[in-house]
Amino acid sequence: MSTALLPGLERILFTEEQIDQRIREVGADISRHYQGKVVKLVGVLKGSVFFLTALARHIDVPLKIDFLGISSFSNKDGAPGVVRIAKDLDDSIEGEDVLLVEDIVDTGFTLRYLLQTLAGRAPNSLAVCTFLDRNSRRIVQVPVDYHCFEIPDRFVVGFGLDYNQLFRNLSYVAVMKPEKSA
Ligand code: IMP
Ligand code: MG
Repeated sequence: MSTALLPGLERILFTEEQIDQRIREVGADISRHYQGKVVKLVGVLKGSVFFLTALARHIDVPLKIDFLGISSFSNKDGAPGVVRIAKDLDDSIEGEDVLLVEDIVDTGFTLRYLLQTLAGRAPNSLAVCTFLDRNSRRIVQVPVDYHCFEIPDRFVVGFGLDYNQLFRNLSYVAVMKPEKSA
């Protein structure tokens, strides 16, 4: 994908080079933390796929990969927070050192649900690594062990993040024009 800014996008927030640099740093932190262990990366489909594969290449302890897919709904009052697993993991995580890999943590509802669900399956450890963290919009407090970037309160796309399933393949992260993300 070229780095020309596509229609609908306002500006680039993080370039491919900045993303690569941060992923190397976070990968090194994770490698240090899991020294002597086998880590299982659990990716949340579909947004985390680009981040997870880039991150995995910069982790130098043995690792396994599994994915789960979720659906989230608004409740009848329009409030967010209803999440369910639409595609479950292929394998058990019992006794494993699990690192949940997310594209973005926003309100925290999705992550809270995932952490509760996975914790109930008796992993040896459970930690969180998110590509983007929008802490200013957090509604429920959730532990985030690693993040690449803190972002402002604007809708972003690229490097896995979508708007109506589009833009996931951008090599950069961009802010959408307000009228598109309204
Ligand atoms: P949370 O449950 O509010 O933390 O929502 C997190 C989910 O909302 C993420 O996994 C994304 O799928 C989606 N999301 C939140 N903010 C953005 C954004 O700026 N761009 C694209 N998707 C987003
Ligand atoms: Mg997501």
